[in-house]
Amino acid sequence: MYCYRKVKDDLYFVGANDRRLAMFEGVYSVPKGVSYNSYLLLDEKTVLFDTVDKAVGEIFFENIKQVLGDRKLDYIVVHHMEPDHSATLKELLSRYSDVKIICNAKIAEMIKQFFDISVEDRAIIVNENDTFSSGKHNFVFIMAPMVHWPEVMMTYEATDKILFTADAFGTFGALNGALFSDEVNFERDYLDEARRYYTNIVGKYGPQVQAVLKKASNLSINYICPLHGFVWRKNFDEIINKYLKWSGYEPEEKGVVIAYASIYGHTENAAEILANRLCENGIKTVMFDVSVTPASEIISACFKYSHLVFASATYNTGIFVTMEALLNDLVSHNIQNRVVGFIENGSWAPASADQMKNLFSKCKNINFLTTKLTIKSALKQEQLNIIEEMTREIVSYIKENN
Ligand code: FEO
Repeated sequence: MYCYRKVKDDLYFVGANDRRLAMFEGVYSVPKGVSYNSYLLLDEKTVLFDTVDKAVGEIFFENIKQVLGDRKLDYIVVHHMEPDHSATLKELLSRYSDVKIICNAKIAEMIKQFFDISVEDRAIIVNENDTFSSGKHNFVFIMAPMVHWPEVMMTYEATDKILFTADAFGTFGALNGALFSDEVNFERDYLDEARRYYTNIVGKYGPQVQAVLKKASNLSINYICPLHGFVWRKNFDEIINKYLKWSGYEPEEKGVVIAYASIYGHTENAAEILANRLCENGIKTVMFDVSVTPASEIISACFKYSHLVFASATYNTGIFVTMEALLNDLVSHNIQNRVVGFIENGSWAPASADQMKNLFSKCKNINFLTTKLTIKSALKQEQLNIIEEMTREIVSYIKENN
């Protein structure tokens, strides 16, 4: 049975939620589900904005059929060819054989790559600032490369001032009946998932996100329609200010992430004692066991907080496997502008701290704590002063910067 909502007047949300997916993109857990958004406009011409993942194709096609009624579909605007938004495109083209595809040249090329179909006879290729009218609605196309693939573009609808933003401003989490961000307590219930979505999916491409934000800053916007998560029609600053921070790699809060990889609990013990000292000094501290917590959650926390401490056992003369995987992931997401410290452990040849530090050599504006803690098997009473020193260093960094 169809299940859609009206965004405004003649614009409808015809996407759907997936709460059965275990791992988005095969790597990110989505315990609260995810939405695949698609929008259908009934103007003098009918225009669909993107399709959806194949997991929700059935309800998507029912929604389109119901909203269109006896009208035909004239245009499909394709903003992004990642299959969570394009897997049902081929079926759409076969169901609506007269539909014209509005897209850029890279998207047209990717359609052929994914589907082995010809698009030349039905594609309208657009470039930056090209325009299109469906009747009373007028559109301008904005290229947004690497937000989050190279072919991505956005569309600005100038009549009702709607920006279709592809993956940008999306979030993990099913919509659960709500369509607009102001229908939920976004900050309490969705901000963490929005951060985890942004940092892990698009986090590597901060400069490209900033370039698009700069273009969008010249637009008057009443609605933001992303491909995942809620439509924004109020409180734009709530999400745009976060995007400015995240894409600029600026921490949202002063605070410490302690991520540890501990085999028998001794490295964890040192990390716990550091956390105690920090909290006693009024410093916001969060802890993660990297062998248990999904990397996407830790990466998200590293984008949120200003100070990062990594504690790792030495393993096969290197960094413990789960910590090495996390740090490679974090570095590849371009983490910058942080203060970073290390705790290492090794029963005969502790060596993980310098190797962890070396991984950060590719990152910009990383200041390292001068205090490093080296444990041989288990923390000793006489080493507590090193933890005190590490605490003092972090506290003074945070207080100086305040
Ligand atoms: Fe939601 Fe980059 O796809």
